[in-house]
Amino acid sequence: MTQPVDQELIDQQLVDQWRSHPAPLLGLLHAFHDRDGYVSETAMRAISGGLRQPLADLFGTVTFYHHFSREAGGLNKPRVCTGPVCSLNGGIECLAALAGKGAISMPCAGRCDEPVPVLIGHEQWVGNARGELTRKSTPLPPANPGKTEECVFSQIRQPGRNTLNGYRETGGYEGLTRAVKEMTPESVIEYIKASKLAGRGGAAFPTGQKWQAVADASGHPKSIVCNADEGEPGCFKDRAIMDYDPFAVIEGMTLAAFATGATRGFIYLRYEYPETNISLEKAIAEAYAANLLGKNIAGAGFNFDLYVRRGGGAYICGEEGSLLNSLEGKHPFPRNRPPFPVTHGFENLPTVVNNVETLAAVSQIMRHKPEWYVNLGLNGQAGTKVVSLSGDILRPGNYEVPFGLPLRTLIYEWAGGPLAGRNIQAVTMAGLSGGFLSHDDIESATVDEPSIRSKGSMLGAAGMIVYDDSRDMIHAAHEAMEFFAHESCGKCFPCRIGTQRLVERLNGDGPTDMKVWLNEVNDLSETMKSVSACGLGMAAPLVVESLIKHFPEQVAAHVEKR
Ligand SMILES: Cc1cc2nc3c(=O)[nH]c(=O)nc-3n(C[C@H](O)[C@H](O)[C@H](O)COP(=O)(O)O)c2cc1C
Ligand code: SF4
Repeated sequence: MTQPVDQELIDQQLVDQWRSHPAPLLGLLHAFHDRDGYVSETAMRAISGGLRQPLADLFGTVTFYHHFSREAGGLNKPRVCTGPVCSLNGGIECLAALAGKGAISMPCAGRCDEPVPVLIGHEQWVGNARGELTRKSTPLPPANPGKTEECVFSQIRQPGRNTLNGYRETGGYEGLTRAVKEMTPESVIEYIKASKLAGRGGAAFPTGQKWQAVADASGHPKSIVCNADEGEPGCFKDRAIMDYDPFAVIEGMTLAAFATGATRGFIYLRYEYPETNISLEKAIAEAYAANLLGKNIAGAGFNFDLYVRRGGGAYICGEEGSLLNSLEGKHPFPRNRPPFPVTHGFENLPTVVNNVETLAAVSQIMRHKPEWYVNLGLNGQAGTKVVSLSGDILRPGNYEVPFGLPLRTLIYEWAGGPLAGRNIQAVTMAGLSGGFLSHDDIESATVDEPSIRSKGSMLGAAGMIVYDDSRDMIHAAHEAMEFFAHESCGKCFPCRIGTQRLVERLNGDGPTDMKVWLNEVNDLSETMKSVSACGLGMAAPLVVESLIKHFPEQVAAHVEKR
């Protein structure tokens, strides 16, 4: 006779396995989600007991994320992207066509160059308006059309680059070898400072200065966190880097550890990239086997352990404070700053948080000279930036451009310009967070922060969504604001309510007198910008501000026609 299964005991064992790992909650939630196809009530109770987290708090945290299903079979329900780019390209229709299979919508899934992404369990598909699905891997960045020298993408198209052998044969680990053999941690930091590398996740904070602050801070163990959350609509560059050049990110993190004295690292990877998770884990295992991670790395006497933690689906977890709370198993609200993560990061200890592209650039810079990187830029701007281009454009994709390149050259010459018979009406900056630039702005702007800021916007992580003259810009702004309203974490009132009110104004609710409408919208925007606690609430008003600035006739028609 078979013994009855003691499910409680089995669940307890799973919790015990994870309890000794750093940042256990996300790992545990995924372990149960994968095993059972959902996070059951009994799983929640086991986690709550094992991690000593009150069940009510745990419930609040788990349900904050979009993707942890609480219903049996939920993991394998198709998740269809209905984000701002996919909704232009059949996302809504694809969702309707798959309704019979229990499809649910998901906010932007980070594959805007090839809409419509559909996630089924751990598999990534591309769907169309008829609901037909094709399995496709991440597109490789197109061959560099401008023939300008690249940094991050310089080796990415080499076959086998995502294996350790292939990586080493194409210059990989040359930087780390040089650092540990010929340099001190201090001189590595000076090197990165001299390269003028600044963060590529959006805020453009100087990387060398951030590393210096962590090296100088007291408290151990220190951590290196790679921000691979990439939730901003229109951004899909980090995914390409991790899929085709994972060792560049791992080497960059190891260099950061050597420079700052950190001994543990985490790649915080967005839920929507399950196949990237598998390739990252494979690359990390290869690096451990070659003594490029772990104890006494490359015989140089320093230790660094690296873990991947998958998120649960929440745009706000890309904000570094929210990310750190999420890693720690707390409710992922942004943190008040100061103190900053460099002194009070993961578990309140000194932590570098860097974007995927920043870390991949570090590996290349360390193979060359700082001046090499500085000189890649044009017109006094240092270095390069990967731009993700999507929407109504002939050749969408990721392009690595020298800072200072005319925006027109990128859009019209490199990416082929608008679709046949169309003109470009607007392009978003920083994904959605920079709002819209007009057709005229494209003619005069260059791809760098000062130029884009002079247009009232920001470059940020450099996602750009193109809208041609067939698009209703009120609708485009409405989609953008709905995204922000959906993703506002709700911690602070002006953002939580303000984004909703702005959605309503773009919906058609509210005053029909233009002056009153404008006063109200401006008032909401100013309040959000001045008192929101994080970048989401501060940036969202740019969408309506730029809409009013560039498309006053469309706004007037929208308000007054009612
Ligand atoms: C709402 C919001 C979302 C963000 N999302 C991301 C993200 O997905 N990836 C990222 O690297 N940085 C993101 N950031 C910026 C991070 O807070 C942080 O500045 C960055 O990870 C630091 O790395 P870097 O210096 O290499 O850019 C976001 C910021 C805000 C306010
Ligand atoms: S600004 Fe918005 S997203 Fe940021 S903390 Fe406040 S409510 Fe949350």
